[in-house]
Amino acid sequence: MERIVEFERFEGESNYERTLRPSSWDEYVGQEKIKKNLQVFIQASLKRAEALDHILFFGPPGLGKTTLANIIASEMGANIKTTAAPMIEKSGDLAALLTNIEEGDILFIDEIHRMSPAIEEILYPAMEDYRLDIIIGSGPAAQAVKIDLPRFTLVGATTRAGMLSNPLRERFGMHFRMEFYTPEELAKIIEQAADKLGIGIDKDAALEIARRSRGTPRIALRLLRRVRDFAEVAEEACISLETARYGLDQLGVNHIGFDEQDLKLLELLISARGRPMGLSTIAAALSEDEGTIEEVLEPYLIANGYIERTARGRIATPKSYELFRLTPPAMEGGLFG
Ligand SMILES: Nc1ncnc2c1ncn2[C@@H]1O[C@H](COP(=O)(O)OP(=O)(O)O)[C@@H](O)[C@H]1O
Ligand SMILES: [Mg+2]
Repeated sequence: MERIVEFERFEGESNYERTLRPSSWDEYVGQEKIKKNLQVFIQASLKRAEALDHILFFGPPGLGKTTLANIIASEMGANIKTTAAPMIEKSGDLAALLTNIEEGDILFIDEIHRMSPAIEEILYPAMEDYRLDIIIGSGPAAQAVKIDLPRFTLVGATTRAGMLSNPLRERFGMHFRMEFYTPEELAKIIEQAADKLGIGIDKDAALEIARRSRGTPRIALRLLRRVRDFAEVAEEACISLETARYGLDQLGVNHIGFDEQDLKLLELLISARGRPMGLSTIAAALSEDEGTIEEVLEPYLIANGYIERTARGRIATPKSYELFRLTPPAMEGGLFG
């Protein structure tokens, strides 16, 4: 079943996401620190007429990594080539990409933690010295070839910084961790998108959708579209708070953006009464894979203080107990201080 608050893009969402994707800094809401830094680096490199240093973005899906890569390209006046690590299977695939770029271009590699070690090896000299070292052919006829590349900028995005190899991580001159958005920022994104889509929405309705969007623009935009359907049925020209609330409740998204799956996870941890629960145990109990729990389910719950990650496993915090109107267990060792 598809989760309405799923971070990853649904089938068929890419078209309207492209329509709504900000193309300049003015439209890019939030992530102020990243924005400020990038603006400085972009200006400096334009002034020196040099390629921008390689950039790595990491953080949960839907927070605007791909969007940033595109804004960087447009601000640099550069072309952008977009690919994802799993699509680069052979050294020839990477060579084809690299030999087709021009001076100053951006190569955007999504899911860069999924790059195979053999491909990484080829990427290192390309990133460091703008040089391609490849072997053409095999057996006795194999030939080592060195090709000079134009100075380009690699922009990598990953949801799992921890899975990136150290040598690869170190070759990025800039690292940026994406932050979850505040409800106010998301409300602004929602109003901006409604405007583009020609939908009317009340301020308090936008904020209501924002509060239930798990700090994530992709989810905010999805909920906006779904709520619009409810407004249409109610024959509202402008989405009202009441309709937003009704629609979101119908969609199974609670007042803080949790759906059944989040609540199941919290209930599971609560049932352990303060004993840390390991990732594999959680995965088995929820019939989910560990990666999904770690990458998709947990980050928002951890960022908002509902779960604590310890060396021995995950624990529900008092905030989780409060959500279910339960009393937290008295903790020996004063874990909850
Ligand atoms: N800071 C932002 N301001 C406005 N819209 C945003 C912002 N970040 C993301 N979005 C919107 O959310 C959608 C998902 O963003 P995307 O860049 O694809 O996320 P990621 O690559 O991190 O998964 C985009 O289509 C864009 O319209
Ligand atoms: Mg992306």
